[in-house]
Amino acid sequence: MKYLIINGSPRRKNTYDVIKQAVSNLEGDFEEIHLIEKQIPMCVGCTNCIMIGEDSCPHRDKVQPIVEKIKECDAVIVGSPVYAMNVSSLLKNFIDHTAYLYHRPQFFTKKALVVVTTAGAGHKKVANYIDETLRHWGVNKVYKIAMTCGGKETLETSQIDKTAKNFRKDVESDKLHNPKFADIIFFNVWKAMAVLDNSIEADRKFWKNTGLINQDFSPEVKLNLIKKLFSKLMFNIFKLVF
Ligand SMILES: Cc1cc2nc3c(=O)[nH]c(=O)nc-3n(C[C@H](O)[C@H](O)[C@H](O)COP(=O)(O)O)c2cc1C
Repeated sequence: MKYLIINGSPRRKNTYDVIKQAVSNLEGDFEEIHLIEKQIPMCVGCTNCIMIGEDSCPHRDKVQPIVEKIKECDAVIVGSPVYAMNVSSLLKNFIDHTAYLYHRPQFFTKKALVVVTTAGAGHKKVANYIDETLRHWGVNKVYKIAMTCGGKETLETSQIDKTAKNFRKDVESDKLHNPKFADIIFFNVWKAMAVLDNSIEADRKFWKNTGLINQDFSPEVKLNLIKKLFSKLMFNIFKLVF
């Protein structure tokens, strides 16, 4: 299995230590990206990625190689410390550069492990935010390790190991999980937006060229009958509402 590690901490300390402990439970090929080394400029808010296409981002040469690596891996491990009750600016800046993935989700076969460390607070909220972001990208299943490291000399490994082992089992199983109702709702928000008369051209092309426009969800992910019907209903409602 091929794992991509994205470290959103500017240093290799608490968050990286937890990532390393988690990785000690996995087997396969690992590639590490330390966002601090990539020196991605701040998102300038041009919205080119959303409106024209990701290749029109002024920072595409820094961002797209990372996105390509996500495409190539089986699973991604995303780490961030809690900074002022949120993700690090390094990770947020990367997430901002991938905002177009909300409109054009594409990582439906990927699994993810989120690692968040904090001195004392905010870890669950921040892990949930990264989880939510990854699901908007289309990621099929997200595991979370959210830990307090403040005042601790040694790492409490049992919870890390347990979650990492479940993550590994899932990645190696190749099984894709039924999406949550919320994932189906968001899929249809963007699908319906792509068929509007005044839709964003990059979105329209993506939904048409991938064939997703004719699907209730990404075809690799099987939906049961209730979720299929729910998806169709959501699409028709959003088409009427937008
Ligand atoms: C700029 C900054 C802001 C932080 N904000 C918080 C915070 O809001 N809540 C908290 O409990 N810890 C906070 N911390 C502590 C870190 O989240 C914690 O030490 C974390 O484990 C550091 O991870 P790292 O070693 O990977 O950088 C902050 C640390 C820094 C440097």
